[in-house]
This record gives sequence, structure tokens and C-alpha cells, in this order.
Amino acid sequence: MNNLLVTGGCGFIGSNFIRYLLNQSDFSGRIVNLDKLTYAGNPQSLGDVEHNFPDHYQLEAVDLCDQRGIAKVFKQNDIDAICHFAAESHVDRSINSPGEFIQSNIVGTYNLLEQARALGDKLKRFHHVSTDEVFGSLGETGFFTETTSYSPNSPYSASKASSDHLVRAYHETYGLPVTISNCSNNYGPFHFPEKLIPLVILKAINGETLPVYGDGKHVRDWLYVEDHCSAIWQIIANGEDGETYNVGGRNEKTNLSVVETICSKLDEKLGQLPSGPRKDLIEFVKDRPGHDRRYAIDCSKIEKDLGWTPAESFETGLDQTIDWYLENMAWVDSIKSGEYQTWITKQYGS
Ligand code: NAD
Ligand code: TYD
Repeated sequence: MNNLLVTGGCGFIGSNFIRYLLNQSDFSGRIVNLDKLTYAGNPQSLGDVEHNFPDHYQLEAVDLCDQRGIAKVFKQNDIDAICHFAAESHVDRSINSPGEFIQSNIVGTYNLLEQARALGDKLKRFHHVSTDEVFGSLGETGFFTETTSYSPNSPYSASKASSDHLVRAYHETYGLPVTISNCSNNYGPFHFPEKLIPLVILKAINGETLPVYGDGKHVRDWLYVEDHCSAIWQIIANGEDGETYNVGGRNEKTNLSVVETICSKLDEKLGQLPSGPRKDLIEFVKDRPGHDRRYAIDCSKIEKDLGWTPAESFETGLDQTIDWYLENMAWVDSIKSGEYQTWITKQYGS
């Protein structure tokens, strides 16, 4: 593939993926990053990439709901492969205002599929990045496999489920060379601090209250973001058309234990707060409506078929993540101050 379109490349996983891929010796093409630059999209997350790969990377500030805008990007850049990350991604926001999720995640994916379909035989791969949340909630035992039936519980997961079905249908009906990955919760550098791990790291550094929803016994299966990136590249390069792959880190943790681990690691790295250990900052707050109790991924298919395995354990991945936030407070401050939105407006218009 010569010209890979990455959607949502200014977000958390997309920016890590672009950096990862441009550093792989088996990729020599160009990446065109199509991103609406919502509150979650920060071009400064790819400042080093713009500098190091000027001939292999380009940003197009376009909304997936703008059909003409996408068509122009396809035409001007001779796109022949797609990796689709762009989405509204935060469950709590989807509960408060689902409309954006329907537009970006469902209508946006449809618009992208239509452009991809128009490429005909030129299209080498349409990879769709999805979530394990489409499967709903597990009980105390069992795992999600690629054949688990869909049962989404939040407007976010329902919108992702809908987009998965559209992508699958475009393979069955029009023969598009699609692959889909359903991944568990990611964590790592450049994660927007509304999600559990970066939120708790930053609040705990500052000695602020740490909100844990409900009883804190909800379980997530954590995957370091670079391991997700390597899985996606394996699937794009070697996956089979029409196939779905589950990706997970075999790192099931309760939310409470994640928060407590972050607290003890920060106590070790920075010393305790004058008030005492950081775990004393934990406060149980009102539960999220429709809160899924447990997610856990069976990733044996991608391990067996594509030889992928995660490189990081939760311990090593979390250490690297905490260190990254401690060393990149300027990135955090720019996100929090809204300074980067001002910068976006200056660079790309409103
Ligand atoms: P994110 O919220 O950090 O980034 C999303 C990016 O998409 C942003 O740059 C945003 O500007 C862009 N975007 C949103 N709407 C758009 C639109 N209409 N047109 C163009 N660009 C638009 O999200 P993330 O955490 O990086 O997640 C990326 C993908 O991975 C999503 O599809 C998500 O469902 C999926 N996923 C995420 C996780 C996770 O733990 N974060 C786990 C599994 C799957
Ligand atoms: P989150 O990072 O929002 O990801 P997702 O909802 O996609 O799994 O939340 C991870 C878990 O942490 C989820 O069970 C909700 C919980 N949570 C809290 O307990 N407190 C918080 O402040 C947040 C943001 C999440």
C-alpha cells in the first residue's frame, strides 16, 4: 500500500499508531491523517512525526460527516488503504449527549465506506478499529470471542456495534477487503484525561479526590496502546479479508485495584503527600447508568493466526504511562487550558 488513510489520527490510539507505523521497516508508504479535530483530537500529539517524517505524513482537518470533504481527500491523495479509528469514544459523554456518537460513529463510517467502495479494485484494505464493549457485559467467568453475540449497553457501544455491522455488510455485499478488530481498554501516552487511568494519574499527582464509580469492582482487561498498534498493523498486513480479530492484554483488573496501584506507584515515585498515602484520596461516587460489570477478551485467534502477542504486562505498561505523564506536563496543560484549541483555530481555521 502506498497511501494509507488513517482517520482519527490526532486522538489517543490513532496518534500512537501513526508514530508506531512510520517507525516500522516494513512500511514505506505515506500516511494521510483525516481528523475533525474535536476536543479529543490534538495535532500537537504528532508534532514529532510532522518533524521527523515530513514526506510521509500529512494532516487533513476534515469531518467524516462532510462527504465532499472526504471525497476531496481521497482524490488528492490517491488513497489505496484505510485504517479507521475516528469516533466519539467516551461512554459518559455518550450517556449525556448521544447525538454526536450517532453522527460520527455511524454516519461517518457509512460515508467512509462509500468512498472506499468507489475505489473498486484499487482498495487493498479497509481496517475498522472497534471495541469489546459491543459484546455487552460478562458475568464472573467467561471471555468474549469473535463469535460472541453483540449486546451493547451504552449509546457509545451501540454506535460502535452499528458501525461494525456496516463494515461487515460492505464486505458481504460489495466485496470490500475489510478487517475488524475488537479491542479491550487501552492505556498509555497521549490518553485524553477524561478516561480512568490518565484522569486518576493527574488527579493523584495533584492530591485531588479520585472518583471510583459504584463499588469499584467492575473489571476491565487493560492493553498497553503500543501493543494494540502492533496488533492492528499485523491485521492490516496479514489478516484475512472479512475476518474479525479480538485484541486484549490478558490483564483483568478491578477499577479499584487499578486506582490503588496508580496511587502506590506515585507514592513511590514522588513520595507521599503531606496528608498521607494517595489511596486515601479515593472516593466512591454514584455509579454510571448501564455500567458494564466485566470485560475480558479471548485473544487466542490473533495469537494463533497472526503470531501476535502483547509485549507489556500491566506493571511495565503502567510504569511507562505514569512516567510519560510526569515528563509531559506541557501536553497535559495545553489540553486542559484549551490552549491547543486556540492553536488549532490558528492553524486550520474554526
Ligand atoms: P479518541 O477520542 O482519543 O480520538 C478520536 C479521534 O477521532 C479524535 O482525534 C477526534 O478528533 C476524531 N474524530 C471524532 N469524530 C470525528 C469525525 N466525525 N470525523 C473525523 N474525525 C473525528 O479515541 P481513541 O481512544 O483514540 O479511540 C480510537 C478508536 O479506537 C475509536 O474508534 C474507539 O472506539 C476505538 N477503541 C478505543 C479503545 C480505548 O480504550 N480507547 C478501546 C477499543 C477500541
Ligand atoms: P473509562 O476509562 O471511561 O473506559 P470505558 O468506560 O470505555 O471502560 O472507564 C473505565 C472504567 O473505570 C469503567 O468501569 C468506569 C470506571 N471509571 C471510574 O470508576 N471513575 C472515573 O472517573 C472514570 C472516568 C471511569
